[in-house]
Amino acid sequence: MKNNVSAVIGTQWGDEGKGKIVDLFSEKADYVVRFHGGNNAGHTVIVDDKKYPFHLIPSGILHPNAIGVIANGVIIDLEVLVSEIENLQANGINLKKKLVISPRCHLILPYHKALDSAYEMIRGKNERSSQWIGKLGTTGRGIGPAFADKVSYNGIRIYELLEWENFVEKFTFQTKIKNKILNTFKVTPINIRKELKKLSRLREIILPFVKDTYLLLQKALDENKNILFEGAHGVMLDIDFSPYPFSTGSNVITGSVNTGAGIAVQKIATVWGVVKAYTSRVGGGPFPTEITDQLANTIREKGGEYGTTTGRPRRVGWLDLEAVKFACQISSVTDIALTKIDVLSGLKKIKVCIDYKLKGKPISYSSCGYSELSTLTPIYKEFPGWEEDITNIRRFKDLPKNCREYLEFIENFLRTPIKIISTGPSREEYIKL
Ligand code: IMP
Repeated sequence: MKNNVSAVIGTQWGDEGKGKIVDLFSEKADYVVRFHGGNNAGHTVIVDDKKYPFHLIPSGILHPNAIGVIANGVIIDLEVLVSEIENLQANGINLKKKLVISPRCHLILPYHKALDSAYEMIRGKNERSSQWIGKLGTTGRGIGPAFADKVSYNGIRIYELLEWENFVEKFTFQTKIKNKILNTFKVTPINIRKELKKLSRLREIILPFVKDTYLLLQKALDENKNILFEGAHGVMLDIDFSPYPFSTGSNVITGSVNTGAGIAVQKIATVWGVVKAYTSRVGGGPFPTEITDQLANTIREKGGEYGTTTGRPRRVGWLDLEAVKFACQISSVTDIALTKIDVLSGLKKIKVCIDYKLKGKPISYSSCGYSELSTLTPIYKEFPGWEEDITNIRRFKDLPKNCREYLEFIENFLRTPIKIISTGPSREEYIKL
């Protein structure tokens, strides 16, 4: 029997337009669940002219029936979480029975952010900064150092906040160690007293939402509730399957639903792979299909390709189907949501990467580290573009012929059906197939 569990996974370097797809499905969801990453992810939802920026709370919470769950795989910066809670409450959204946070979530603490910046600074000063030893272009949100603490048993969970004395002891111990490291970077140390004062206020605000999310989700599964897992980032940033270290700190593939929320992948009936009609990435690292001429600016401006978390201009490139094929395979994508096709309207020619060659020989994405990805030659197929504005089109057959051919090629190449085509930024601008 097909259950009601689905996941939305980014198949590129993040920023595929997952927010809109999640928003579409949340309408019917009983639970919308974040299961990995932290506030390095983000998108803005606009409802009735009000802007709601989301970095941690699942955006689906705006739908009256949906309960937002922040499950154990997410790392939490309390300041960011509380500002999202306060913003929603100020707009009349009562979160009392609508938000649940796992006590297993690890905290991003002030020293993680300081360390993130310090590592970037020192890497940036390195003269051989062209490869892994150079600046990575992290979001500066403390993600890497917080995950590092989690796996080296130095992390502090939300759980510790339940007993303030425990928290104070652990926080003080860890901050003293981290201050020694910060000192070697000649960075201002963390003021323990000042930070504890801030954290104690934030603690009071979040504690009412803390509850075991594992039991909650297992019960929801038993009751055949509609559960939507909201993926962040994209598979090309996965800590294991990206060109490390140009990665984010968490696993991004569908399998991380299991570790990050406790629901086994076999329970997920539909995995939506979100594919943007071209590619973008922020931060450093190899990008085989990057466009480096004026066309990149045209696409960036038209597609609004600026980071939602940091505001940085995104690098832009052609759709890389060799990489997306890998992302769909590893994440068991069943259905594709193709986004931002409207951004390509008006281009004379559209290219799509269908293969990689290194020193004249084919090589697959999975066999590449950053070195191979930086030097390989992408093999392109070229398509004629279309002139028409397609934002108001609601039926596949009404799309321009060249656009249909581009989409059909993608579908055939990935051997996965495209079920949604987003034709513009607004909620209603999409085609359902
Ligand atoms: P971190 O996740 O802040 O440590 O950054 C590591 C890399 O992942 C950087 O290149 C970031 O720009 C990138 N990154 C992390 N999260 C996202 C995202 O949601 N969208 C796009 N890039 C991301």
